Amino acid sequence: MKLVKVKSHEEMSVFAANYILDKVKSNSQVNLGLATGGTPVRTYELLVDDYRRNSTYYQNVYTYNLDEYVGIPIDHPNSYHAFMFEHLFNHINIPEKNIHIPNGLSEDIYEEAHNYETIIDGIGGVDLQLLGIGENGHIGFNEPGTPFDRETHIVTLTESTRKANSRYFESLDHVPERAITMGIASILKSRGILLLASGESKAEAISQMFTGKSSIDCPASVLKYHPNVVVVADEQAVSKLKAAMILSHS
Ligand code: GLP
Repeated sequence: MKLVKVKSHEEMSVFAANYILDKVKSNSQVNLGLATGGTPVRTYELLVDDYRRNSTYYQNVYTYNLDEYVGIPIDHPNSYHAFMFEHLFNHINIPEKNIHIPNGLSEDIYEEAHNYETIIDGIGGVDLQLLGIGENGHIGFNEPGTPFDRETHIVTLTESTRKANSRYFESLDHVPERAITMGIASILKSRGILLLASGESKAEAISQMFTGKSSIDCPASVLKYHPNVVVVADEQAVSKLKAAMILSHS
């Protein structure tokens, strides 16, 4: 894993947007794995700014989102569908048919999970997977304890994740209890991974990921097994990492 230490959330976002644009501007077909949460919002805003300035071409870009809540309609303001359209898809010229997000309202969510994995297998894994990280080290919605060989599946969210995400909902009671998420094995199929971390609340997870043994207790620690991972973290997010550890991964 390569660590890029940056000063601020803004610097992290600029790095991430440029990294993604490098792929997009190659103009050949690109399969991007996308993430939600507060962390990538500014990155998406920078992609939109770039699109407005340069009319960047998104017709050859295909997207595959990591996850979606189970049981809330796609037009619910807190669905990840709504998030992606609000922050990115409504503002760039990506054809709707190129966009893939798991359907958490599917009549058979287990079949939906299976079908989603088939789509990922069909492209041989995404070219670049953008990831955030949960305070407990989760990636996508793969909570601690998730076996590393899991493909897209249905999860019951932990109390800590529901609490962290309740800031977007009216109250904790409104946060769905389940989600459909790419599994750790699905994420590992990606050709490249870009993980973003910003703020003190992620410091423990980042420290676990780099210093601890790879363990299902910290799902992000599985990324040690992947050959092409770049972690972009700001000063607060690396505040629990020793200087030597930062240097050895830079
Ligand atoms: C959610 C998402 C994750 C995201 C995490 C962190 O649980 N499923 O993909 O990485 O939240 O979110 P934030 O960036 O808001 O801290």
